[in-house]
Amino acid sequence: MSVRAPPGKVCPTPPLSLYVHLPWCVRKCPYCDFNSYAVRRAGHSAVEIPEARYVDALIADLDASALFPQVRDREVVSVFFGGGTPSLFSGEAIARLVAAIRARLNVRADAEITLEANPGTVENEKFAAFEDAGINRLSLGVQSFSDTLLKAIGRIHDASDARRAIEAAAQHFPVFNIDLISGLPGQRVEDVLDDVEQAIAFSPAHLSNYALTLEPGSAFWSKRPELPDADLCADMLDAVEERLTVAGYAHYEVSAFARAGNECRHNLNYWTFGDYLGIGAGAHGKLTGGDGAEIRRQTRWKNPETYIARANAGRAVEDDFPIPPRELPLEFMMNALRLRKGFDAALFEARTHLSIESVGEILERARDAGLIERTETWIRPTPQGSRFLNRLLTMFVPDRRQETEDRRQMKTDRCC
Ligand SMILES: C[S@@+](CC[C@H](N)C(=O)[O-])C[C@H]1O[C@@H](n2cnc3c(N)ncnc32)[C@H](O)[C@@H]1O
Ligand code: SF4
Repeated sequence: MSVRAPPGKVCPTPPLSLYVHLPWCVRKCPYCDFNSYAVRRAGHSAVEIPEARYVDALIADLDASALFPQVRDREVVSVFFGGGTPSLFSGEAIARLVAAIRARLNVRADAEITLEANPGTVENEKFAAFEDAGINRLSLGVQSFSDTLLKAIGRIHDASDARRAIEAAAQHFPVFNIDLISGLPGQRVEDVLDDVEQAIAFSPAHLSNYALTLEPGSAFWSKRPELPDADLCADMLDAVEERLTVAGYAHYEVSAFARAGNECRHNLNYWTFGDYLGIGAGAHGKLTGGDGAEIRRQTRWKNPETYIARANAGRAVEDDFPIPPRELPLEFMMNALRLRKGFDAALFEARTHLSIESVGEILERARDAGLIERTETWIRPTPQGSRFLNRLLTMFVPDRRQETEDRRQMKTDRCC
């Protein structure tokens, strides 16, 4: 993978976003494999979230991160509080965090600042406090409006809690998102359409419709529920797309739909292989060096208590390594091919510093297989390519032997 791209028309330094991980939830949902910890576990008394200590640790992490050469002097275009359940945190804690972030990083005045909320943790006053803190986009994990399905997937809220939360969100945030999941146990196409219909009635600017995935380590992985088959799940996704298109939502990414101008800026930065600093327990980051020549991945300590201790000692980062150039095409495609409109070849070259022709043969094969369409400057997945995205991405997996050699070399580099 030695073919370097000539200087292109896309800015060589990608936009920078900030992700903040808040890892506690009321209860662990059986389908979830996020780095999240239940405050209530069967047979145990509820544990207290160490809110103030965790916020202190995040601020210590920010202090150190703001000095990274790949972060210093760069503008931050979006901030995302994800989890876990960030809405378990108090308004004061979120206000302290937003102020600390703005004091240490050069966050754009009009940056999109999203917070994820679980409808089971919502009060109107809390949303008012989040709004006062500077949150301007709320993402609500509704999943379904069916009480039976919500129970089957272990949610802590019912449909009426979800409706109340959406009404409160609409009062306080100019943009809010509703998360739905399809392919739930026993779900039919008409159930999915009913969920979508109820969501549309609240006129959200953004809607995400995820297909349920069974994740290793989740309760559903070890005790698999009866799920709709693949064809039925595909019919559900088609029906959702058709209904949302008629309602004026553009299907701009595999799972994301938005009214014009309301695409999630933070996620779009991921999908266009932008940079992000990730702080908080288990958070991941991707940062490009000043000259664009080196792209690094960072991971923070996963366990919250370990993270707190390490962050306070100025060592929140557990792992920090360069992405070998051979892996960049797959890393780029895993993001950009999620976009329905595809991407400009110049973006590939600017973000990876590789020539588009370095993946020319793979693109040819993908086109012959009907998985992408390509002009000289533009590449986009066909509907078939979007549906069988994993098959398409497999084509970009680098040669295993070379990968092992790259990793061995990286280890040697780090030891020295
Ligand atoms: C971090 S959660 C959102 C906030 C909050 N934790 C909640 O669940 O309400 C992000 C979203 O990912 C989706 N999700 C999580 N696990 C999933 C899975 N296994 N399959 C499909 N979607 C999933 C859900 O729609 C969820 O709202
Ligand atoms: S509330 Fe959200 S993050 Fe927490 S366990 Fe459930 S799906 Fe996972």
